[in-house]
Amino acid sequence: MPILDPELRRELANRIRYYNELGIYDFYRREGSAAEPLVAEAELAVAVESTVADFGAAVRSAGSTPDEMTAKRILQIIPAVAERGALQVLAPKPEWSVTDPTDALRIIREDLGDCTRCRLHQQGRKQIVFGVGNPQAELMFVGEGPGADEDAQGEPFVGRAGQLLNNMIQAMGVRREDVYIANVVKCRPPGNRTPERDECDTCSPFLLRQISVIKPKAVVALGAVAAKNLLAINAPMSELRGRWYDFRPAGGDSSWSGTRLAVTYHPAFLLRDPRQKGEAWKDLQMVMKYLGLKPPQKIAQ
Ligand code: URA
Repeated sequence: MPILDPELRRELANRIRYYNELGIYDFYRREGSAAEPLVAEAELAVAVESTVADFGAAVRSAGSTPDEMTAKRILQIIPAVAERGALQVLAPKPEWSVTDPTDALRIIREDLGDCTRCRLHQQGRKQIVFGVGNPQAELMFVGEGPGADEDAQGEPFVGRAGQLLNNMIQAMGVRREDVYIANVVKCRPPGNRTPERDECDTCSPFLLRQISVIKPKAVVALGAVAAKNLLAINAPMSELRGRWYDFRPAGGDSSWSGTRLAVTYHPAFLLRDPRQKGEAWKDLQMVMKYLGLKPPQKIAQ
């Protein structure tokens, strides 16, 4: 089995999911085509995803056992998944055993533990910065990774960039405590460097689980690192901004159709280049329109 580019595989999986949503399940594959293993892999990814989602829903609604059909599908899929060494995809997540998002987030935090999964744990982090806010938030912001202030206080966006993010949130007519804020990586990269690809890949499953639990109506990716990691698209900010993306992390609640994701500039970038604030405001206005938010009224003096 060739090693497949994860981005290509994800794009193919998205395409197949799209066809599935249109009711198309059978695909003609040219015999011996170079794309054949890739298509098979992507089909498998979609099958696994929907099976795992059904399994999660069954566990939540029935309390313990999935229905017979789902169990059969899991048994059919396991050998194919095992062959490709992708069994970890099937593991039900511990937070699926609870319905309350506060409990579910606590379980994810416990699962993260005193994380040593990537090198960031040895590079001077003081603590893990998990996330903060309303576990049932309609709006979620995702940044890159904690800086020095966040590392010291254990909360995302509490430094200078955080002050600007607070102003942005306030300008949207919501309070910081009403939204949820998290980062792609939960440990401070040394010297505030950009997190490496493997660090993001190791940590982002926890972010996706947070999103799946919170089920926000909209996610705002702050900056290119957050956008590229969430969307698995490698494009410049100029192309990423100004539009909505349908976004649904794999697995989890099959009754949740997903969220919409918008991209805007990172507040730290806006501190360096304040002329772009108008552009960021346009992005936020798109989000406000979707969520029915109005900027706070100025009180006449
Ligand atoms: N920058 C980020 O991306 N996240 C934080 O939490 C703080 C600064």
